[in-house]
Parts: sequence; structure tokens; C-alpha cells
Amino acid sequence: MRNNNQSIELEYYKKNNISPVHYNLKNLKKHFEIRSSLYQLLGVPPKLVYGKDVLEVAPGSGHNSIYTATLMPATYHLVEPNPLGCQDIVNIFKKLSLRHTKPKLYKLKLGNFKTKKLYDIVITEGWPGGYLDFDKRMLKKLSSFLKPGGIMLISFFPPIGGMATYLRRLIGNRIISNSDNFKDQTNSLNNAFSSHLINLKSMSRSNEHWIQDSMLNPYICVAHNTPELCLKILNHKLQIYNSVPKFADDWRWYKSLHGKSKNFNENFILEYNKVSHSLIDYRINSSRRSIKKNRELEKFCFNFAIKTKNNERLGIKKYKQNIEPLLKKIIQNIKKDLPKNVLQALIEANNLLKKKKIDIYDVKEMKYFSSLFGREQCYLSFIKN
Ligand SMILES: C[S@@+](CC[C@H](N)C(=O)[O-])C[C@H]1O[C@@H](n2cnc3c(N)ncnc32)[C@H](O)[C@@H]1O
Repeated sequence: MRNNNQSIELEYYKKNNISPVHYNLKNLKKHFEIRSSLYQLLGVPPKLVYGKDVLEVAPGSGHNSIYTATLMPATYHLVEPNPLGCQDIVNIFKKLSLRHTKPKLYKLKLGNFKTKKLYDIVITEGWPGGYLDFDKRMLKKLSSFLKPGGIMLISFFPPIGGMATYLRRLIGNRIISNSDNFKDQTNSLNNAFSSHLINLKSMSRSNEHWIQDSMLNPYICVAHNTPELCLKILNHKLQIYNSVPKFADDWRWYKSLHGKSKNFNENFILEYNKVSHSLIDYRINSSRRSIKKNRELEKFCFNFAIKTKNNERLGIKKYKQNIEPLLKKIIQNIKKDLPKNVLQALIEANNLLKKKKIDIYDVKEMKYFSSLFGREQCYLSFIKN
């Protein structure tokens, strides 16, 4: 898997003829406000995009791109290889009546996109991760399109934040069968998890799209990434500028920030490692604890992702043998430092996974785990040195 050169997610989308990344656009003002808040937190207020050259890779169905286009960049290039996503992009821009910059759509994989042009802002959300060699190359390629001083916005999927999803995949795979067709699998999982999703008050996607993108998508267990890994992949040629959520404080005196002592990346990683355990549950506000414990937790969750990938279809025996011991280590690691309901949720998931047969009813009725969702979609902005 590590040397696989395929776009796993893209193949999955194409095979099932889906682009499961639609947002609720009934209230466009609200959607635009959400996008504007995200950009602002990443250090990109609307005026900064005006008149700039912007490249967005993997825009999916273009639901986020319509906001960016209304900020009136000078050029707006989109690179998206999923045929259904491309069709959605063309349609959504046809319908957009607000003043905007018309994007140029390249119906290509990033690997096949070539240009001599450099951009002020490069954006990608939901792809690529940082674990597969192929994704590492793609992340590096993205950064190569930036002008010096340009800004790159990316999302990253931290493995600690992925825990709730890995566990839901393990549960979900015990409900569906390989012989069910894609639609039936989607319906069964919707039936099981809709009582969980209803607890996510700010959810802006349909259950169906969430299930197809997070539960059935084979890419999820290899999509993880961390800020530290990003910096390594990018060879420290970019500096971390901002993040969502805000991980880092910087109380150093600005007059001390020159030459080697600037250390923006090192300061960010230090701060991130103090709070990263909080990613396991989106309801938690950040609290601090030992860096050593958090590094250990990250390592466990990194392994949990891979073990989930390798065992999620293999049933209870392999769960008990290969996964439960790791889950116990994770529970042990966070036991003293996180709210009781997080532990109760993990223990409840473990107890369910140890049942010989899991019914949809059992999943629906989960008392603690039904409200546990991690911070999966986090963001980083970088400035090119
Ligand atoms: C999870 S979706 C994210 C869509 C959108 N950015 C969003 O946040 O809603 C991932 C996107 O990555 C695209 N993708 C996958 N492999 C790609 C590749 N090799 N080059 C460019 N885009 C790719 C998929 O087609 C899909 O649209």
C-alpha cells in the first residue's frame, strides 16, 4: 500500500459514480459566512484574495469554490479529475448569479497538471493526506506552485481526531456485507448511524454523503496527516502561518523573532503537541497536558488507523486479537486527562465490538459513543519562505 501510486479515493468515487462532497447550500449566505470564517481564521481575509492568482486542487463538486470565486481573484484555476465532480462544478457555476471570477477548470489529476505559472494562493481540502508516498509527492507538488511569500491552505486529518471514525468503520463493517450493493450498504449504515449524526448540530452534509465519504471510502484509513509530518514532507521550506482549530499560542516577544530564533514551525509543533489529545472529541475545548503522553497517543492512533484498514472486514476474532489491545492502550493513555464521557464512549464501542453479532439496533442505542465525533478536518495555512 505504501508505494501504491493510485489515487485510492478517486478510483472509489469513479467506480461508484459519486462525488459525495455536497454541502447544504439552501442558505447561501450562511455557507459563505462559514467559508469566510474559515479563511479568516487561516489568516486570509476576503480582501487578500481580491486580484490574486489562485489555484485550487481537488475542489470536488465546487461547493466551496463558489465562495472563493466571489472574492474576485485575478485568476482562479481548478484541478479536479472526478468526472462527476467536474460536471457538478460546471453546473454550480452556471447557476451562480453573484459577481465572481469565472474559474478555468482542468479536468485532470494533480499528477498530470503542468503549468509554469506560480500562484499567490494554493488551496486544497480533503486531499491529499500525508501517509502514502503518493500523497506525500502530491503535497510537495502543490507547494511547488506557490510564489515566494505565497500562502497555501490545506486540510489535514489527524489520527487522534480520526478515532471515532475508525471505530465507526469497525462497527459499520460488522453490519454490512461485501455482497450487499453500494446503495444497500449506504442505507444500512444510515439506518445505524443516523442517531449519531443527529447529535452533530453544525453538520452541513447529508448523511448519505457522510457515509459514502467517511464510512465506505477506503481512503480514510490512510488519509491521516499531522503538522509535523507536513513540515517534513515540505522539507521545512514553508512556515506554518495559522491553523483551525487554533493550536498554538505565541507569547514570545516579537523583537526576539529574527534570524534563526524565529522558529515559527518549532513553536507551532511544540504547542500542537501540548493540546493534540483534545482532537479526539470535537466537544472538548483545548486543555494542555504532557507532550510525551500526546506523542505516544498520536503514535497509537496512527497505528490504529492502519490496523483498522487491515482488519475492518475480518470480524470479531481479528478485532479482539489485533485491535482491542491497542484501543486499551489508548484508553489508558487518556484516562486521567479527558472528560469521563470520552472514556465511556470508547469503552462502549469496545464492548459492542466484542459482541458476537452487532445489530443496527445496538448501534442506534449507543448511549455515549453516539455523541463522540473527533476533529477530523483540521486546517493549516503556510507561507512559502
Ligand atoms: C474529500 S474530496 C474533497 C472535495 C472538496 N475539496 C471539499 O472539501 O469538499 C477529495 C477530492 O480529491 C480529489 N482527488 C482525488 N485524487 C486526486 C488527484 N490525484 N488529483 C486531484 N484531485 C484528486 C477527488 O476527486 C475529490 O474531489
